[in-house]
Amino acid sequence: MPVPLAIVVLAAGKGTRMKSSIPKVLHKIAGKTLLSHVLTTAKNVNPDKILLVVGYESEQISAAGLKFAQDNNFSLNIVTQEKPAGTGDAVACALKTIPDFEGNIVVLSADVPLLDAPAVQGLIDHQMESPAAVATMLTTDLQNPTGYGRVIRTADGTVSKIVEHKDATQKELDIKEINSGIYVFKADFLKNSLPLLNTNNSQNEFYLTDTISIARKQGKIVLGKHIEDSVLVTGCNDRWQLSQLAIIANQRILKKHMLAGVSIIDPQNTWIDTEVKIGVDTTIQPGTQIAGNTVIGAKNLIGPDTTIENSLIGDGNHIVRSHILEAKIENDTKIGPFSYLRPGSHLDNQSKVGAYVESKNSYVGTGSKVPHLSYIGDVEIGEETNFGAGTIIANYDGVNKHQSTVGNNVKLGANTVLVSPVNIPDNVYTGAGTIITKDLPSDSLAVPESKFRIIKNWVSKNRGLKRKK
Ligand code: UD1
Ligand code: MG
Repeated sequence: MPVPLAIVVLAAGKGTRMKSSIPKVLHKIAGKTLLSHVLTTAKNVNPDKILLVVGYESEQISAAGLKFAQDNNFSLNIVTQEKPAGTGDAVACALKTIPDFEGNIVVLSADVPLLDAPAVQGLIDHQMESPAAVATMLTTDLQNPTGYGRVIRTADGTVSKIVEHKDATQKELDIKEINSGIYVFKADFLKNSLPLLNTNNSQNEFYLTDTISIARKQGKIVLGKHIEDSVLVTGCNDRWQLSQLAIIANQRILKKHMLAGVSIIDPQNTWIDTEVKIGVDTTIQPGTQIAGNTVIGAKNLIGPDTTIENSLIGDGNHIVRSHILEAKIENDTKIGPFSYLRPGSHLDNQSKVGAYVESKNSYVGTGSKVPHLSYIGDVEIGEETNFGAGTIIANYDGVNKHQSTVGNNVKLGANTVLVSPVNIPDNVYTGAGTIITKDLPSDSLAVPESKFRIIKNWVSKNRGLKRKK
């Protein structure tokens, strides 16, 4: 019989040192909030229950937690801690909502984002291997343990107590092994020991860590599972630490992609979010950011200096110095340099969107090209069509946006303007500078109305621009 498991995620603290109007746990690394990272870990351990303790900015944090849980198909119990009376009080608030729960209770902090499910599972397994232990905590050695609780072990290696930095003697401060704040408890021990906590400490708080010395006094065993990779249990208190954790998270993401067959030329200057997927033999050039739920296929060449967010990219595309948001790119296209593809852009196979082209809510058919200096918005373009340099879709009349269509094998001359809504059928040509305000018949050539004329000596007569001697 598997032992039931509940995970309590603590997120009621204020996070004062972030100096931010955004609650600490809603700051992001690798494209996800700290809270989402920790909830992902909790979910991946596959517990029977996940409880999120909120207090400071409780509405914002619980809304973010519930949305993440809904998007990821798990249920989350929100527990409100009315006053920030300490970690012991926070866990007590959570337990009050599950008074009959029996089994193991894991406690996680919402500000420790790089902890992964295998580390939590390792903690639980460690405890299960010693049936006598009532609690096990993750510990690690830190060169600079300032601020952390220190782990005091007995001669037999079990843990006798945790001393908070602010309450520690000089000798205790010299200890490098710290309490990560991540624990597994037997539920009945926790339930019985939390009411025994007091606030006789420098912070006047109920310390969860005092349950360890309570266990010891009762002759019970507490274990410390030491892990080498201290990054896994590093907390985030200020924006400097946030940036350092972001760098580490990013390096781990890049390494995972590289080991799976993606070439990343400059790992110091490439940023990829957690959820991004990339196919084999895609090469990412320096200065590239790939964000959100972007999915990229195989054999693409992306960058340098390209940003792609929440987009779907097929195979064999070549994307240079461009900015792509919520777009869909099929296969073997050419994009950039300096293309700006906004939401709803859809490029079909072998199409091209070139230098200084902006696109929004537009479909470019197979083999079609918009190579230079164009704006295309709210337009559907057929196959093998070519837009001359500077072609503009004037989709906005100042009040409403209008939709246009352009057929197959259309050749628009340079600086053609389509004043939407207009429909250009197949096999139409336009002369340079044509302004199209109504639908055209198929197989036609449209040219500007005014005839090209040369008026000799116009400049000198009209503007007196003769060179002074
Ligand atoms: C805690 C541990 C310390 C450990 C460190 C690891 C205690 C007393 N100390 O200290 O031994 O080394 O974590 O990072 O537990 N929280 C609440 N309600 C509260 C207070 C805190 O939900 O009333 C939450 C915070 O949002 C945070 C977590 O609990 O997610 C830890 O609280 P924090 O104040 O950061 O504790 P530390 O002083 O870091
Ligand atoms: Mg902390």
